[in-house]
Amino acid sequence: MPLVTLLAVSGLILMPSSTWAEDGARLAAQLCSACHGVHGHSESPMFPRLNAQTPEYLVAQLKGFREHARAETDARSYMWAIASQLDDATVQSLADYFSRQEAIPGAAGDAALLASGHEIFEHGVPDKGVPACASCHGAQAQGAGTFPRLAGQHQEYLLRQIEVFKNGTRGNAPVMTAIAHTLSPEQAEAVAAYLQSR
Ligand code: HEC
Ligand code: HEC
Repeated sequence: MPLVTLLAVSGLILMPSSTWAEDGARLAAQLCSACHGVHGHSESPMFPRLNAQTPEYLVAQLKGFREHARAETDARSYMWAIASQLDDATVQSLADYFSRQEAIPGAAGDAALLASGHEIFEHGVPDKGVPACASCHGAQAQGAGTFPRLAGQHQEYLLRQIEVFKNGTRGNAPVMTAIAHTLSPEQAEAVAAYLQSR
């Protein structure tokens, strides 16, 4: 569905902001679910999963889209227009809603690949300067504050983010940009496969 139609169907263009602020759940179902899936658990790897994501990270990303600080091509194409329609109270209510949606365990994959991804996640690659992902993203990749949950996220989406950190278009995250540069393509693939399986 074209974005303008989505916005019109959801009533987003016409409704006063105080009304939508009250109902993150309704807005999520009417507007976000078309891409991010029911309760934020999207099926297509084009669209990141939002269920059980930390509220602080969700708020930071929606504001990042709104302020054009997160500027990779897919962010521009898909999220800038929507985020421009959301005031702070609505951002907060959407973040509260998605953060309360339950985590859904991922499916296992190739055992050797997952084992090598698990190793990188927990210990990094010390001689290549790759830090342990767990030190920021949490022992179970559950996230904490503005460190996002990575567990159960689509492998393809995770790899795309490592790519946009590297090429500088998602330019508002200097820490992850530095880390992305330390990962070889094989290491990135392994750790992303491991995370999707969690
Ligand atoms: C037309 C499809 C579409 C709709 C509708 C949509 N999104 Fe998105 N959203 C995307 C895509 C695609 C991305 C990934 C952008 C990227 O790769 O840079 C994204 C990314 C995000 C992210 C970043 C997630 C992360 O892990 O970093 C958040 C948060 C988000 N969307 C929230 C929302 C909310 C809230 C709504 C409803 C108000 C919404 N989106 C509606 C397509 C959509
Ligand atoms: C020093 C802390 C730190 C470490 C270590 C770290 N990260 Fe991150 N990571 C972050 C922060 C902060 C963000 C959110 C960036 C932003 O605000 O956009 C992030 C975001 C990400 C994202 C984007 C998630 C999304 O939903 O869009 C991916 C993928 C990621 N990290 C993977 C990794 C991997 C893989 C490792 C280990 C090799 C790792 N990170 C280690 C701090 C860290």
